[in-house]
Amino acid sequence: MTQAPVNVTVTGAAGQIGYALLFRIASGQLLGPDTPVKLRLLEIPQAVKAAEGTALELEDGAFPLLAGIDIFDDAKQAFAGANVALLVGARPRTKGMERADLLEANGGIFKPQGEAINAGAADDIRVLVVGNPANTNALIAQSHAPDVPAERFTAMTRLDHNRAVAQLAKKLNAPVGEIKKLTIWGNHSASQYPDIFHAEVAGKNAAEAVNDEKWLAEEFIPRVAKRGAEIIEARGASSAASAANAAIDHIYNWVNGTPEGDWTSMAVPSDGSYGVPEGLISSFPVVCKDGKYEIVQGLEINEFSRGRIDASVNELAEEREAVKKLGLI
Ligand code: NAD
Ligand code: LMR
Repeated sequence: MTQAPVNVTVTGAAGQIGYALLFRIASGQLLGPDTPVKLRLLEIPQAVKAAEGTALELEDGAFPLLAGIDIFDDAKQAFAGANVALLVGARPRTKGMERADLLEANGGIFKPQGEAINAGAADDIRVLVVGNPANTNALIAQSHAPDVPAERFTAMTRLDHNRAVAQLAKKLNAPVGEIKKLTIWGNHSASQYPDIFHAEVAGKNAAEAVNDEKWLAEEFIPRVAKRGAEIIEARGASSAASAANAAIDHIYNWVNGTPEGDWTSMAVPSDGSYGVPEGLISSFPVVCKDGKYEIVQGLEINEFSRGRIDASVNELAEEREAVKKLGLI
């Protein structure tokens, strides 16, 4: 081990995604097999004991790359020196809660976390927001971290991306590894748009290989967009291991690059590309290289895609308006 440990802060560490995520980080899957990690876990005071229990189990994993675990109930301490921050803990929607209530409750979480990142995170901090509504929570955190470059705040649509790859592979009876260049556009919500028009299967255009617009519009898109609800219905709890897996994929690619000849989907601050208003944290096709991501440029957007991208982006713009009105950004 030659490298200094990388500080990885995980919020909501005692939750179900946390439980699936922490062991994979400790085993080296987040950053690679040569990078030691120090875990900094943030929980609310009532859940600190459960996080301590997970820490005992992490110790029992005897992971060679795990250089330490610290547990906090204070955001300033948890984000001090963080190189990677996984913002998983969020306030779930409960019965009778309106959308504005949910945004407000999450503002109470992501505003102080953004401030804490601004105050003490390392210069190379990379932030992934998983807690829902992920895109807008990322926007709230970002707006309270004015000293951190805006592009370091991202939100997770990789689970949607992976879900879409798996569904398309199934339809085409192809191995998932043969599917490339699929894109999730917009919000991590039911309005998201999984786009296969630029996707490839074994080097051939996937939309042409499918050649079934009815399947695309009536089965594939709703299946992917509503997969979270399907999992909740089947499991009685929201997706956890697949969400943790996607968080690992997102950061791994951001740090170590996307494979040649492929891209991935990340929700990142828009630079105005593809008509998405600047600043909205919206999902795009991205390639990662040398520790940075770039939005893939120059894709032709057909009419079928345009309306769907616009609908999801409009939802993000409405969420931004709502949190502005609440004084959260
Ligand atoms: P969970 O309820 O099991 O765990 C959440 C944890 O966060 C709890 O332990 C809670 O104590 C903690 N927490 C709450 N407020 C906190 C705060 N201010 N600071 C630190 N920790 C705090 O939930 P989960 O199943 O692990 O899911 C977490 C979030 O991820 C949810 O918002 C869920 O909707 C979201 N999610 C997102 C995606 C995605 O693709 N973007 C996928 C699945 C789940
Ligand atoms: C998912 O996509 O599985 C989750 O975002 C669903 C949810 O509402 O927690």
